[in-house]
Formats: sequence, C-alpha cells, structure tokens
Amino acid sequence: MTAPAPALSVEGLRVAVGPPGRGRAVVGDVAFAIPPGGRLAIVGESGSGKSMTALAVAGLLPRGARQTAGQIALGGRIVDPAGPGMARIRGREIAMIFQDPMSALNPVMTVGAQLVEAIRAHSAMSPRAARARAAEMLAAVQIPRPAERLDAWPHEFSGGMRQRVMIAMALTHRPKLLIADEPTTALDVTTQLQILRLIDGLCREEGSALMLITHDLGIVEGFCDSVVVLYGGRMMEAGPVAAVLGRPRHPYTRGLMATIPPLDRDVDWLDPIPGEPVATPAADAPGCPFAPRCGLAEARCRTVTPAWRPAGSKVAASCHLLAPSPAGGGLS
Ligand SMILES: Nc1ncnc2c1ncn2[C@@H]1O[C@H](COP(=O)(O)OP(=O)(O)OP(=O)(O)O)[C@@H](O)[C@H]1O
Ligand code: SF4
Ligand SMILES: [Mg+2]
Repeated sequence: MTAPAPALSVEGLRVAVGPPGRGRAVVGDVAFAIPPGGRLAIVGESGSGKSMTALAVAGLLPRGARQTAGQIALGGRIVDPAGPGMARIRGREIAMIFQDPMSALNPVMTVGAQLVEAIRAHSAMSPRAARARAAEMLAAVQIPRPAERLDAWPHEFSGGMRQRVMIAMALTHRPKLLIADEPTTALDVTTQLQILRLIDGLCREEGSALMLITHDLGIVEGFCDSVVVLYGGRMMEAGPVAAVLGRPRHPYTRGLMATIPPLDRDVDWLDPIPGEPVATPAADAPGCPFAPRCGLAEARCRTVTPAWRPAGSKVAASCHLLAPSPAGGGLS
C-alpha cells in the first residue's frame, strides 16, 4: 500500500526581500513535509524566518518579499502560492491563524458577519444557513451563548475569545492544513493552554494537519510530533520531537534547550545563547549562519555551508561537526 501524499510538502524554499535582483534571502533551502493529520512545529529565535516560511506556504508574503525558489505541494498537488488560484485554496484547503487576532478581524464588522462571509466565500450556503453554521462554529470553540454573540463586535470580545473566533473561521471549511503562527503569544498563560488544546482537539476531529510556529519548546513537546529548528532562515535540525528535544545534535538546538528552565531543580541562571540573532548573514550566504554565536565554530564554519545530513534515526541536521571526521571527532 502506498503512503498517502503529505498534507504539505515544501522543498528548497527560498524567500527574498528587497528589490528583485538586489534582494536579500531571508529563507534559504527550507524543506519539510507534514503527513495528513500530522503536527509539525517550526521553532527558532526572532528573525529566524518562521513567519516568512509560513506566509510563503499560504501565499501571504508581505509586499517586497517573494518566493524565489522551491516547490510547495498540498496533498501531493504542486501549487503556486503567489498565483491566482491560491485565493480559492486558501480558506478551503489551507487556513492560517496569526498571533494578533485583533488585526486579523475587521473592527467594523460584527463577529457573525465575518464568520458568515468566511463560510459563504467557499460554499453556496444561504445567508440563513451560514448564520446557523457560524453559531455552530462559535459553539465548537466554546464561546458561551454563541447565537447571541454573533451580533457582537470584535472589541466586545477578550483577546482569548477573539483568537477562538479566528480558530472558528480558520476551521470552517475543514482545511487539510492549519498554519498557526504564534497563536497564543499575545494571551495570558492559562488562556494559552486552553487555546492550544482547542486547536489540537479541533484539528484531531477534522483530521487537519497542523503547522505550529512557536518560540516555546514546552508547547512543541506538548502538541507536536515533529519539529524543524530554523536559524538565519536555514534549517539547523529537524526530526521527531522526542528525538530532537530528547537528544539535540545541533549546537543551536542545544543552545535553545539550555534556555529552558529544568523542572527537577531550581536554577539561578540560564545560559542564553550569546550574541544577537539580528547579526545573521543572508540565508544563502556561504558558511553556517550560527557561526558568529557558536562556541564550537571552526574556521570552515564561516566559509563552507554545512551539508544537511542524517544525525540519528529520522533526525537530520546541518553542522560540520556532525560529519564523520578522520580523527574520530564530531558531536555525539
Ligand atoms: N515585511 C518585511 N520586509 C522585509 N523584511 C522582513 C519583513 N518581515 C520580516 N522580514 C525579515 O525577514 C527575516 C525573517 O523574519 P520572520 O518574520 O520570518 O521571523 P520570525 O522567525 O517569524 O520572527 P518572530 O519570532 O519575531 O516572529 C527577518 O530578518 C526579518 O527582519
Ligand atoms: S557548523 Fe560550525 S558554527 Fe555551525 S553549528 Fe556547527 S560547529 Fe557551530
Ligand atoms: Mg514571526
């Protein structure tokens, strides 16, 4: 039996910003796949290219940014995210929720009107049926008195409730892929967990695959089965969550892990990764982007791009020290 096509596959993705011909790559050679119903986390510090990767997949890159290489396929079908057909695909096959639900909701339309509009954009439902479906969706995201709340304005909802509305809107058409870009960063810790559980439960019910972007490795551990670690727009390490977080191979992943407080003892000080991520070179520059901050960097790290290579069962990473060396060295 052949395996079903991945819900999403991305190969050799490159995104550049700035004028064509003189642009700067902010994502380079990113590749991953999410099986149907799978949950992939994309992690990395601020500026590592997480949002640009997600926006490229959804065909929502900001003005001045464009995909300059790579192939994106949804359910085995190659798509052109910047092409005219994407509007039809977005919302129905692929949906996205963002960090700030207020900016994604229209402040001068009621919550119900926006839900009805989203429902009718991809179905021939009557306004009345769409309103009933909208109330159903609000109930599914646990908004109390859903039929009544359809007539509320976005500013009458709390941040957590607005994010629930966005989730309802995103999942209306049972997309095969939901992309959630830091969906809980703007919320308090208790609400964060409720929203993540809600996303998790609804994706399971609908069979949707999830691409979750987060800074938080605890969230990765709790809600995802595979992870891609990005730095400077490039992939540092990727594989099953248990393998990558259980035994990180790449110095950057190890650095990210070192910034998480251990649960089994009190610590006064956590080792931050030295330096600033903003100092990263273009994502297609030769060398390892992490070299300026890596305590293990060698001369070749600054000039030779490390190959993407297997680093354990189903794990792969990009670091010169993972290469078998004649002296028998390397990271273990
Ligand atoms: N609209 C834009 N125009 C030009 N460059 C941009 C734009 N948005 C982001 N960038 C640049 O692209 C790079 C990747 O940014 P991206 O937003 O993908 O990072 P991120 O990993 O999502 O960070 P964060 O965790 O802060 O959201 C950064 O160098 C950023 O400065
Ligand atoms: S390639 Fe070099 S600079 Fe990059 S992570 Fe490995 S040791 Fe550090
Ligand atoms: Mg971002």
